[in-house]
Amino acid sequence: MNGDEASEEAILRAADLLAHGGLVAFPTETVYGLGADASNEAAVRRIFLAKGRPADHPVIVHVAGSAQLASWVRHVPEPARRLAEAFWPGPLTMVLERAEHVLDIITGGQNTVGIRVPSHPVAQKMLRAFGGGVAGPSANRFGHVSPTTAAHVRAEFGDSLDMILEGGQSEVGIESTIVDLSRGHPFLLRPGIISVEQLEAVLGETVRRPDAHSPRASGTLASHYAPTTPTRLVAPDALERTLAVAGVRVGVLARRPRGANLSAAVWVEAPDDAGRYAHELYADLRYLDTSRCDLILVEQVPDSREWDAIRDRIGRAASPERN
Ligand code: TXA
Ligand code: MG
Repeated sequence: MNGDEASEEAILRAADLLAHGGLVAFPTETVYGLGADASNEAAVRRIFLAKGRPADHPVIVHVAGSAQLASWVRHVPEPARRLAEAFWPGPLTMVLERAEHVLDIITGGQNTVGIRVPSHPVAQKMLRAFGGGVAGPSANRFGHVSPTTAAHVRAEFGDSLDMILEGGQSEVGIESTIVDLSRGHPFLLRPGIISVEQLEAVLGETVRRPDAHSPRASGTLASHYAPTTPTRLVAPDALERTLAVAGVRVGVLARRPRGANLSAAVWVEAPDDAGRYAHELYADLRYLDTSRCDLILVEQVPDSREWDAIRDRIGRAASPERN
C-alpha cells in the first residue's frame, strides 16, 4: 500500500456525505467502488444514473463486518457463516436471501442480495464511520474497465461525484469472487482471486458453475470490463502472425518482452504470475486504451485454474459482442 491514502478527516466527510444521499467513490482491495447509502433509494438511483447501468441489475452491499450480515439477509446459513469466518474481510461476495427491508433497486427485484466485507483500511474506516450498508458497484461506466486507482475513477467520472476517497492502487486488481448460497448448493457467479478450490475446502462440498436458474449478474454478460478500442484475444503462437497482417496501429498485452521484429505500436509486458497479472490488468488495459491504437491484442493466458478469473476478465474485455 502506498502513502496516498485518505485522511481520517476525509473519511469522516465521506461518511457524512453518504448519510446525506451523496455519491462517494471508495477504494477496496479488489477495485474502486461507487458508493451510496444502500437504504436510500434516491441515493442508489444516482449510482445507476452515473454509471449508465440498466435499472434491473442488482448491486452488492458493503458492510464493515460479518456481524452486520444478519441485518441484510433473511437468515445466515451455516455455509455463509463458514465462508465469512474464512474470507472476510476480503475479496468474496456472498449472495443470500434478502431481508424484507432491502430495496428492490439493490436486488434488481430478485429475492437475493449480494453482501461483501472489504478489507481495504480506507473502506473499513468509511464503513465503520457510516455505520450502515454501502451499495457499491465498481466505479466505472457500465461495461467499461474497472478502476484500480483514484485517478482511474476521475478519468471515468470527472467531477460529477461528491467525493473520491484515495486509497492507492487496489491490491488484488480484479473484482471479488461471487458465490451464490441462496439455492441449497453453492454456485460460482463470478470467478475471482479466491478460487473455487479455496471455497470448496471451507465448504466441504462442490461449488457449481452457474446454470439456467442462476440470477442475472452484469459481470456475467459476455461483453464487460471492456476497453473502448476494439480488443481481441490471440493465442501466444499466433501473436507474431496476427501482428504481421494487422495493418493498423496495434497495442499488445503479453506475458513476454517485445520481440525485435514485432510491429506493435505499443507493447505492455504483463507479469507471468496470475496474482501480479491481476494486480496490473485493468491499469494495463486502460493504458493501452489511451495509447491511440486501432486494435488491442491480448495474448491468451494459460489454461490452468489459477488463471481462471483472469481468463474470464480478458475474455469479456475482448468479447466480439461489443467490439
Ligand atoms: O470486488 C467487487 O465486488 C467490487 C468492489 C467495489 O467491491 N464491486 C463490484 O460490483 O464488482 P459490481 O456491481 O460491478 O459487480 C457485482 C456483480 C454484478 O455483476 C451484479 O450483477 C452481481 O454482482 N450481483 C449483485 N447482487 C446480486 C444478486 N443479488 N444476485 C446475483 N448477482 C448479484
Ligand atoms: Mg463492475
